[in-house]
Amino acid sequence: MSSAYQILLSDRPRRNRRLAGLRAMQRQTVLTPSDLVLPLFVHDLPDRKPIGSMPGHARLSVEQLVEVSREALELGVPGVALFPALSDHLKDPRGKESLNPEGLLQRAVRALKQELPELVVITDVALDPYSSDGHDGVLIGDRIDNDETLPVLAGMAVAQAKAGADIVAPSDMMDGRVGAIRDALDEAGFTDVGICSYAVKYASAFYGPFREALDSAPRAGDKKTYQMDPGNSREALREIALDEAEGADWLMVKPGLPYLDVVRLVREHSALPVAAYHVSGEYSMLKAAAAQGWLDFDRCLLESLTSLKRAGADVIFTYGAIEAAKLLRAGA
Ligand code: PBG
Repeated sequence: MSSAYQILLSDRPRRNRRLAGLRAMQRQTVLTPSDLVLPLFVHDLPDRKPIGSMPGHARLSVEQLVEVSREALELGVPGVALFPALSDHLKDPRGKESLNPEGLLQRAVRALKQELPELVVITDVALDPYSSDGHDGVLIGDRIDNDETLPVLAGMAVAQAKAGADIVAPSDMMDGRVGAIRDALDEAGFTDVGICSYAVKYASAFYGPFREALDSAPRAGDKKTYQMDPGNSREALREIALDEAEGADWLMVKPGLPYLDVVRLVREHSALPVAAYHVSGEYSMLKAAAAQGWLDFDRCLLESLTSLKRAGADVIFTYGAIEAAKLLRAGA
């Protein structure tokens, strides 16, 4: 062997990978169930209604929601994120059902906090589940009116806080909404209710299955005038600076895996906890490939979530939270 090769081979990284025990000792990123949040869909019917593009997920009754959340909590998943699937007759252009103290989401929150007081209940703040236009803000003519939307979002957040939400999570991408929501919560006495801002949310095609679940696809147009352009990362810095100044408690990047660089960027530019959302399309892709026998769902799920944590996420929203928690507890 030439001396050049001898010099290269004096350093052998493989020595550290020789035994499972060695690999475990040196693992730099260890996923745990407590990193996870389970998003769930609730509807106002007694039977669960499966979501075709999200095998394993369904629109649940409030009772079923409590049972699934209990299972998650018992497996070590500390929180759930709730999304209401409303029937069409409750939707209108201003999403006024979102303010109803007896509305579906508010009833779901109350039931969860009553049965599982230690569960972290995160509620989504945006108009789309309630909007007959399928947009996150108020549509006036053919544009989403930012400033008309802010009081609706603030009212929605207060209604959710009154029902017992621990964290409200504005996912609408209107300018100024974190500040408007913080002011409204404080004024109503909810100084302890946190805000998880979907600060860096892209106009992504990976939300498709979620929109099937809620029947919430925009009836016209798309969300590109409020959600971020997938080509941009510097713009994320502007969004997080604003949301921090307005009082956000967590910053979220969404989707997850296609935006790992952005998760890292946000991690490096903020001291706030960073959440990443492994969105519906990311979950569906794994399920679909696994159904074909092309991928091992369990291993791909854990690898995806570990990658989000490695990139800098403290909290990971994933539809695979229960599956991942079971795998992790089994020592996968
Ligand atoms: C809308 C909202 C969306 C998701 C969470 N909140 C979809 C959208 O912006 O159209 C997507 C979540 C997912 O795909 O899992 N406010």
